[in-house]
Amino acid sequence: MKKLRILVLMHEDLVPPDTIRGLSDEEIADWKSEYDVCAGLEALGHDVFPLGVSDDLGLVRRAIRKHKPHIAFNLVEEFHGVAVYDQHVVSYLELIKQPYTGCNPRGLMLSHDKALCKQILSYHRIRTPKFIVFERGKSVRRPQRLGFPLMIKSVNEEASMGISQKSIVRNENQLADQVAYVHEHVRTDALAEEYIEGRELYVSLIGNQRLTAFPIWEMRFTRMPEGMARIATRRVKWDAKTQKALGIKTGPARHLPPGVDRQITSICKRVYRCLSLSGYARMDLRLGEDGQVYLLEANPNPNLEYGEDFAESAERVGISYEMLLQRILNLGLSYKAAWRG
Ligand SMILES: Nc1ncnc2c1ncn2[C@@H]1O[C@H](COP(=O)(O)OP(=O)(O)O)[C@@H](O)[C@H]1O
Ligand SMILES: [Mg+2]
Repeated sequence: MKKLRILVLMHEDLVPPDTIRGLSDEEIADWKSEYDVCAGLEALGHDVFPLGVSDDLGLVRRAIRKHKPHIAFNLVEEFHGVAVYDQHVVSYLELIKQPYTGCNPRGLMLSHDKALCKQILSYHRIRTPKFIVFERGKSVRRPQRLGFPLMIKSVNEEASMGISQKSIVRNENQLADQVAYVHEHVRTDALAEEYIEGRELYVSLIGNQRLTAFPIWEMRFTRMPEGMARIATRRVKWDAKTQKALGIKTGPARHLPPGVDRQITSICKRVYRCLSLSGYARMDLRLGEDGQVYLLEANPNPNLEYGEDFAESAERVGISYEMLLQRILNLGLSYKAAWRG
C-alpha cells in the first residue's frame, strides 16, 4: 500500500488533540469522529495533516501548496456556519484539481435539499413519504391529499435538528405551531411529511460506480413508554441519558420479512445513483406497518466515528475500521472528476 500525504479537512472547533489519554468520554464526544479518522489514517502509515476550516478558503489553498497532499480527507460539514455550503468547499477542491474523499458537489447539493431529493425519487418511482414544503414567511395551508399525522422537519438541516416528539402533529393547530417552530428556531423552510409508523432502518453504502451495501442496520426502542413515537429525535440521537432511558439499541436488522432485505438494498443502490452520490453514504429508511419500504433521506459523507452505524455495519462483514478508511481513500483517488477528461 502506498504511503499517502493526507490533508484532513474538518471544522475549526473540532481539530482533535494528538492523544485522548486521560480524557473522559464527554470531553471527547464532540470531535471523536475527527480523532478516529486521523488516528486510523496514521495507523495505516499515512502522513496526516489535520486542518481546521471555518470561513477562509485561503487557508485550504495554502495548506495544499505546503503539504501537496495526494488526497484531502473531507470531514467538513459547513462553511461560514452554513450547512449547505459544504458542497462549495468540495467544488473548490475540484476546481483546483485536488482529489478528495466522499461525495461530489452535485450529490451533496441534491441530497441536502430533502424536497428536491423526494421529487427526483418519485420520478424514479422510489417510495418516499408524501410531502409539502411550507416556506418561511408564507401561510400554512395543508393540502387535502396529506392527512394527519404528519411529521414536520427542516427541509435541509441534518442530525435531527429541531426533531422531537412534538414534530409529529395530529391537527391543524399543532401543524401551524410546529411549522412556526422550524421557521423560527431551525430558521429554514419546513417539510411536512406523511408520518410512517414502522421500523427505523439505516443502510451504509460505499462506492463510485460499483456499489457495496453493508448489512441493514436498525435502531430499536426497547423501553419506550406508552404513547411515545419510535423516532430518532435530537435527544435519541445525541443524548446518552435519553438513549439509556428509552433503551435505544442499534445493530443488524433481524427477522425482516422474506425478500425485504434484498428489496431494501436494491432501493438504496438506486437512490445512491439517482442522486449522483459518490464515495460513501448512509440511507435512512422506514419499513412501514403496511409492509412498504420508504426512503426518508440520503446522507452523503455520514459520520465515520468508530463504533457508529457506518463503521459498525462495515465491520459486520469483516471490513475493519482501517480497511474502511483505506477504501474511502481509494475511492477518492479513483473518482473520475470532470477535469480528468
Ligand atoms: N416521515 C417520517 N415518518 C416517520 N418518522 C420520520 C419521518 N421523517 C423523519 N422521521 C424520524 O425522524 C428522524 C430524522 O429524520 P431525517 O429525515 O432522517 O432527518 P435528519 O437529516 O435530521 O436525520 C428519522 O430518523 C425518523 O426517526
Ligand atoms: Mg436522518
